Amino acid sequence: MTHENKFGMFIHWGIYAQSELQEQVYARYDWDKEKYEALALTFDPQKYDPEEWVLLAKEAGMKYICFTTKHHDGFCMWDTKYTDYNIMNTPYGKDVLKMLAEACKKHGMLLSLYYSNPDWHHPKSYNPKSSHQWKCVDKEGGDWEAYKKFMLDQITELLTNYGPIYTFFWDIPPRIEDRSLNEYIRSLQPGILINNRGCDEGDFSTPEREYEGSGSSARFEKMTEACNSIDVQSWGYRKDVEFYSYRHLISSIDKIMAKGGSYLLNIGPKADGTLDPEHAERIRKVGQWYRKMEGCLECHEADDFDYGNCSGGEYIACKKDGKTYLHFFNGINSTAAALKEYPGLPKKVRLMNTGKELKFALQIVPEFFNGATGRAEHEYLYIKDIPVDDLASEAIVIEISW
Ligand code: GLC
Repeated sequence: MTHENKFGMFIHWGIYAQSELQEQVYARYDWDKEKYEALALTFDPQKYDPEEWVLLAKEAGMKYICFTTKHHDGFCMWDTKYTDYNIMNTPYGKDVLKMLAEACKKHGMLLSLYYSNPDWHHPKSYNPKSSHQWKCVDKEGGDWEAYKKFMLDQITELLTNYGPIYTFFWDIPPRIEDRSLNEYIRSLQPGILINNRGCDEGDFSTPEREYEGSGSSARFEKMTEACNSIDVQSWGYRKDVEFYSYRHLISSIDKIMAKGGSYLLNIGPKADGTLDPEHAERIRKVGQWYRKMEGCLECHEADDFDYGNCSGGEYIACKKDGKTYLHFFNGINSTAAALKEYPGLPKKVRLMNTGKELKFALQIVPEFFNGATGRAEHEYLYIKDIPVDDLASEAIVIEISW
């Protein structure tokens, strides 16, 4: 992702919101087709006001919104000519994507589109090579060429009728190598960025949820956009929600961004179109942390100086405009951070979380000693009085001006 647009809002919204269970309720709760597809006959989000969504994203410091135009259920959230199973044939009957695109344009928010490869409604869609094909209607009648034509027709609508599109988020790799799809997308929107869940490697990769598993703190080699939902169990609206802790989400975002990646944080709006205030508050609060970082999460490079182990804990060092930023993505467990090596004496040390200066000194720290002699090692750069207990749910970022 281009460096200035690092933080985005993922929105999973469709007829499944009425179940208040999960976006894949049709498969995961094993509903039958009639029961599931009847949700289209009652979808009537009278309180839908996309500006509410866009303004929340803005407040959180987000620069783009990625919207589910068609999830695995095959239901289309725009006015498409290529299937009747779409928003125009609900009691609501309005193009919700168009309304969102207009709200984004009004508020300077970029728009990205999610599009699922699996389609549990289109009769030709079955593709045995791909996962998530559980509910495809005709497992004998899958026909990639016919389904591909349908997808290209829909993509033409999506990429010509809704203004500039920032990224295209394919979901679930079809495991069919075919570069012509992404080439076609680029011919319609030359500046677009495409993820790696389509028919070729695309522009960016999409680690999901388990950021802890990504291990090392080395920077990403390929453009990367991680994604996660505020709800552990679902991307669509779920009443019986299990929220991730702020600490977990903020750590995840800080770590991904310090490694050079972008981050999509998901919320699932309710069936009436509104955001559950408690869910929205989660986005807002993560955004409060993000905004305190004052842009240090964007456009930075790796700081390759080896500061050695730090008493504060695990960190990733970045630099921007001549300053070093130490990202303690899991927080700091004590009130000081002692750096073993340092290129010189800092001019100033600042805690990004509060904007306040921190005290520092080059000094002996008695716990770092030579095991053979019992004598303290050389002077460390000792950054002190960090208000860690007030920041218990935050990743901590320290700015050093040299
Ligand atoms: C997974 C889920 C899907 C969700 C997507 C978001 O693929 O199966 O429901 O839309 O993650 O990245």
